[in-house]
Amino acid sequence: MQDQLMKFIENLKNIKNKNVILRLDLNVPIKNGKITDTNRIDKILPTLNFLVKKKAKIIIISHIGRPNGKIVDELSLQPISLYMKDKMKKEVLLLKENIFKINKREIFKNSNYEVVLLENIRFYPEEEANDDKFSEKLASLGEIYVNDAFSCSHRDHASVSKITKYIPSYCGIQINTEINALNKVTSKIKKPVTCIIGGSKISSKINIIKNLIPKFNNIIIVGAMANNIFKYKGLKIGKSIYEKNIDNIIHEIFSYAEKNDCKIYFPKDFKVGKRLNDKSTEKNFENIEDDDIILDVGSKTLIEIKKIIDKSSTLLWNGPLGYFENINFSLGSSEIAKYIASKGDNIFSVVGGGDTVATVTSLNMKNEFNFVSTAGGAFLEYLEGKVLPGIKALN
Ligand code: 3PG
Repeated sequence: MQDQLMKFIENLKNIKNKNVILRLDLNVPIKNGKITDTNRIDKILPTLNFLVKKKAKIIIISHIGRPNGKIVDELSLQPISLYMKDKMKKEVLLLKENIFKINKREIFKNSNYEVVLLENIRFYPEEEANDDKFSEKLASLGEIYVNDAFSCSHRDHASVSKITKYIPSYCGIQINTEINALNKVTSKIKKPVTCIIGGSKISSKINIIKNLIPKFNNIIIVGAMANNIFKYKGLKIGKSIYEKNIDNIIHEIFSYAEKNDCKIYFPKDFKVGKRLNDKSTEKNFENIEDDDIILDVGSKTLIEIKKIIDKSSTLLWNGPLGYFENINFSLGSSEIAKYIASKGDNIFSVVGGGDTVATVTSLNMKNEFNFVSTAGGAFLEYLEGKVLPGIKALN
């Protein structure tokens, strides 16, 4: 159990006019300045409403994307502040000022605001470095800290874990809901268990796969994740993205899977394009050209995945099968979503991750699965049985 000693936000009394620092994961997909999936924001509204009702002054911290400690204009939280203003019917100030230059008294000097959103916390290298001084500075802005960002609680970062060293810290409503639901999931898992892992976040997930092997019967690796396997096997991938220097990990994955009787599947045919916004062409490995990008699974692969689903009692899915942002490459994900849903009560299905949730939301199928988690990496690490640093820090 990861939540034995936690203090819960609902127990907070007398927080009127107190500065509450709220860590959220507002890492939502944004295209041309517009949010394309609002699930992660909508799910934390109960926490925000609770704090508003208690008349607290709210300082929100979040990240978007991976700017690597630099200011990247496209990764500003501006579109999110506008959406929140609209949803909360409150003024939400996006504070772009350098965090090292702001202090607790000044932060709400303009009395129109009850909610302040700090600009993308990952613009500061100190965040991912889990820097002590930075965590202390962040803590100094408030009297209470609340973590309601389950989906990034697997990150040992300043605003997620280290900050709790310096300020009384509480667990938010959404984290608690996710933990309770995932605890139920882990206790309900019935074999054969199949896990579909896809998406483009290769580096962080490839290590997780190894740890999932002893727990699962089948692991289906799709999306950009699979490109690494093709590369390792000496197959052509054109100019598709892949991670360098990870052949050792792939080798370990295959030999560990063999020892543990876990089958690893990967696509055998694809939909490719020359650009992300291209139309799709179906190909096998043999006819992949140097300027092709693999952007979805092909029809033979879909048949194979469906056969594996037929033989599974539990299905966990994290990461789209293709580049679903372009409808020409979304067929793999939508076919699999529909197929899992068609199994009804014959399968226990859990879907997790920002992009996967966006996919099932766009298909209007969110209610067709047993549980939909906003978390991707955190969801997989929780299933692995890891104690997430953000949760550990709350204990
Ligand atoms: C997510 O989208 O899974 C979280 O926001 C964490 O993002 P990260 O993988 O970039 O740390």
